[in-house]
Amino acid sequence: MTNKHKPMHGTAKAAGCSHARLGNFCKLFPDLPSWADDCGGVSQCDAEAMAAALGGPGGLMHDAGNSSGDSGIPAGYTFFSQFVDHDITLDTTSNLHGAPQTNSAINELPNLRSASLDLDCIYGLGPEAMPFMYDQTQPGRMLTGSEVDGIANPLDVPRNEEGRALIGDPRNDENIFVSQLQLLFLRFHNKRMIGANFEEAQLDCRFHYQHIVLYDLLKRVCDPDIYDFAVPKIEFNAGQEAEDRDYPFCNIVDHCHRICMPVEFSVAAYRFGHTMVRSAYPANEEYPVIELFDERFGTLGFGQVPPELTIDWRYLLEVERCHPYAKSKALDHLLADELIRMPDPVVGRNAPANDRSLAFRNLLRGYALALPSGQAVAQALQAKGYPITAISSDQIRDIPGWDCATEGLSCDPAVHTPLFFYLMREAAVLGEGNHLGPVASAILMEVFGTMLVNCDTFLKDSHWAPDPCVAKWGGLTLADIVRYVDA
Ligand code: HEM
Repeated sequence: MTNKHKPMHGTAKAAGCSHARLGNFCKLFPDLPSWADDCGGVSQCDAEAMAAALGGPGGLMHDAGNSSGDSGIPAGYTFFSQFVDHDITLDTTSNLHGAPQTNSAINELPNLRSASLDLDCIYGLGPEAMPFMYDQTQPGRMLTGSEVDGIANPLDVPRNEEGRALIGDPRNDENIFVSQLQLLFLRFHNKRMIGANFEEAQLDCRFHYQHIVLYDLLKRVCDPDIYDFAVPKIEFNAGQEAEDRDYPFCNIVDHCHRICMPVEFSVAAYRFGHTMVRSAYPANEEYPVIELFDERFGTLGFGQVPPELTIDWRYLLEVERCHPYAKSKALDHLLADELIRMPDPVVGRNAPANDRSLAFRNLLRGYALALPSGQAVAQALQAKGYPITAISSDQIRDIPGWDCATEGLSCDPAVHTPLFFYLMREAAVLGEGNHLGPVASAILMEVFGTMLVNCDTFLKDSHWAPDPCVAKWGGLTLADIVRYVDA
């Protein structure tokens, strides 16, 4: 039973991995020139033109005709990868339409999430600092359920009267699928509270979650050669003292032991999920096709999940054998129409057409944060020892409409390729739409590897293994959490 006399601190204990000690942004490769420098200098106007040609409405990345196929990855992982993003990175300070930042300015940018897989998007700063997310009648339990305008939905995240979610990261209410995933983890925590105190349940949830990130999510989305290269190194180095570690190769831990968030990851590689998003999904048996932002239900982001749209995860994950489920969109350079025309609640009422496109934003943010080109990062990772095959300029430009779209740009994007675009092309060319290519995968393994090796993670606890009552089908997957919570 819950011990009411135990303290209920909500933060991780490892130095530098705690929400109480947030880090900043930084670069994985601070010595590489930016893409704009590689091009001999690119003005703000020319950068906007490049971002519009590739990523704007009607640009090369706009999947206007819904022509991109499926990957083999269950659609639920799209929203789980978004959920993980919201656990580890949040930039509210950089200027989308700003001039390229210097390395020292980037090092000063605060990351408002702890880069540590500690589920701060669930726990916030803990029950003492953020009591409004916690059940005051049952200490240690997270609140669930909403009532807005007289409509009750017990299977929703908690909300205030205006319908705004009372959760650790507001972005986990940006669409109803990620919002329902937030609910899933709130319910998972509450179920793990039975027979445990808050800190035990919190640690247990974090460990299960970290295990799923390393052995389920990353295995599905990464290039298999890079994954197999990195995972044994992560497992081994987690058991070593800091001075004896030889992996990850890049050092993104500062002298205060805080992990900084590399912009190559947050502005390019870990935005891979944007290509996995579809414009429409099944919600449940009654609503097998709803739009990501569906005007019929007013679900344009940041509002109550209507009770009839409660997500049945069997339609998005392999929860039951033989139950059909949707797959994520192929990983390629195309982004779904819903993401090229994002609604007001996500981008603001007065946003111009280009700013409504996530592809445009990713590319322009990459310019503003002085990301290196894809080619430069591929070479730098090769030099570190990763088994990287780079893609050629011909492979990058092998897209219908390339010549017309890129005509007149000041720098040929097939020769010097903005990092996000390069990574999406390598997923299409080398990953054949089923997973990321080697460069994106190596960036992911470097950054997740740093978190898993440096923080208090399940890898540091040789006695810990997933609870067999959760992982009933063998290896622990996201679907196990659904089965366990719904049992
Ligand atoms: C489901 C629909 C999604 C929408 C509407 C969405 C929307 C957005 C928006 C508007 C931004 C800010 C862009 C900028 O101004 O630079 C953003 C950032 C980001 N997104 Fe998504 N996103 C979605 C899914 C995902 C997924 C599936 C992933 C996972 C891989 C992801 C990863 C990221 C990351 C890493 C950032 C940068 C976060 C930061 O450092 O502040 N997103 N997204």
